[in-house]
Amino acid sequence: MKYFIRAIIAAAVLIVAFLIFLYSGIYNVSAMEPHNGLTLWMMNTVKGNSIKHQAKEIKAPNLNDSSLVKLGFTHYREMCVGCHGGPGQSRDEIGQGLYPMAPTLAKSTKELSPSELFWITKNGIKMTGMPAFGRTHPDDKIWAIVSFLEKLPGMTKEQYQALDEATKDESDE
Ligand code: HEC
Repeated sequence: MKYFIRAIIAAAVLIVAFLIFLYSGIYNVSAMEPHNGLTLWMMNTVKGNSIKHQAKEIKAPNLNDSSLVKLGFTHYREMCVGCHGGPGQSRDEIGQGLYPMAPTLAKSTKELSPSELFWITKNGIKMTGMPAFGRTHPDDKIWAIVSFLEKLPGMTKEQYQALDEATKDESDE
C-alpha cells in the first residue's frame, strides 16, 4: 500500500512538472533553433513509416512520357522550386526560412518510390511546411509532377533552363 501511494505521488509530480513545462513557455518554438535529437528521431520515424504505410496501395501509371514531364515541370516551376530549389535554382526567401528545410528532390527520388512521392505531394506533411496539393490539384496533375520529379536526378542547370524556355508560354493550369 505504501509503495502504491508513493507511485501515485511520483506520477502526480511528473504530470505537474510536465504541465509546468508546457505552460511556462521555456520550450523554444523558434524555427531558427533545430529540434533536439529525441524530437527529431520521433518525428522522422513517424513520418517515414506513415508515408510507407499510406502509399502502399497506390499504383503508379506509366510516367515515361515527355509531354507529361513538361506539364509536371510547369507545376514544379510554379509551386515547388521556391521551397525545394532545383538544378541551378536556389530556394526563395520562404524556402530559406523553413524548418525543417525542404530537401533537394533529386535526392528524394532515389529514396522514395513514385507512389510515395505522389502521396506526399497530394497530402502534404503535418508539422512541416509541406503543403497538400491534393486540395487544389486532381490526381493526373499530381502524377505529371511526379513524372518530372523522376527526371530530376542528374538534370543539369542547362536542361532545367531548356525546359523553362520550351514551356515559357504555358502556365500550370
Ligand atoms: C512552402 C514550402 C513548400 C512547398 C511550396 C513545397 N514543399 Fe515539398 N516539402 C516542404 C518541406 C518543408 C518538406 C520537408 C518535410 C520534412 O522534413 O519532413 C517537404 C518535403 C517534400 C517531399 C518529401 C521529400 C523527402 O525526401 O522526404 C516531397 C516529395 C515534396 N516535398 C514534394 C513537393 C512538390 C512536388 C512540391 C510542389 C508541387 C512541393 N513539395 C512544394 C516544403 C514545401
